[in-house]
Amino acid sequence: MAEVSKALPLDVVDEAERRWSYVVAAVVLFVFAAIVLAGVHWAAQPPSNVEAIDASRLHLSGEFMEGNLGTEIQADGSAIVRIIAQQYSFVPGCIVVPAQTRVVFRATSPDVVHGFLVAGTNANTMVVPGFVAEVRTRFERPGEHVMPCHEYCSVGHEGMWARVRVVDREEFARTYAGQRRASCVRN
Ligand code: CUA
Repeated sequence: MAEVSKALPLDVVDEAERRWSYVVAAVVLFVFAAIVLAGVHWAAQPPSNVEAIDASRLHLSGEFMEGNLGTEIQADGSAIVRIIAQQYSFVPGCIVVPAQTRVVFRATSPDVVHGFLVAGTNANTMVVPGFVAEVRTRFERPGEHVMPCHEYCSVGHEGMWARVRVVDREEFARTYAGQRRASCVRN
């Protein structure tokens, strides 16, 4: 003779299993909805800044024409640095900014997805064609940082990097006075 079972009656077990299956279904649906939302809503846009630009006309007119690239000091003393990331270089290839100053990097790409990273700082974003990536930061001390591309952008990727030179505020004002756009490409 089998032992007398202490198990719950079958209808109670069925009911508990049914409720549990509802809970599992709800969790699966919630996770699935979160994945779809994240994929469709967020992945379609660069996370730093949602600002569209016509990637095929960057060199013809507007903010990212060649003469506009580099560092521009604003009326309020802050700096805007405009950068093109392209296969396989950054323009300008040497960026100069004053220390202890608000700096806004604005970068875009005419070809494929690149990465923008200033080593030793929290400046880090993707540069997606068709969008303007924007990073706001501030450098406390003069010094030099490497700025590699960190998104694989084809065969020349590992050779794609620039420098960011941070100079003393007064030195920057002296050296680059009268220049519409500053860079350290030839220094
Ligand atoms: Cu550009 Cu990797």
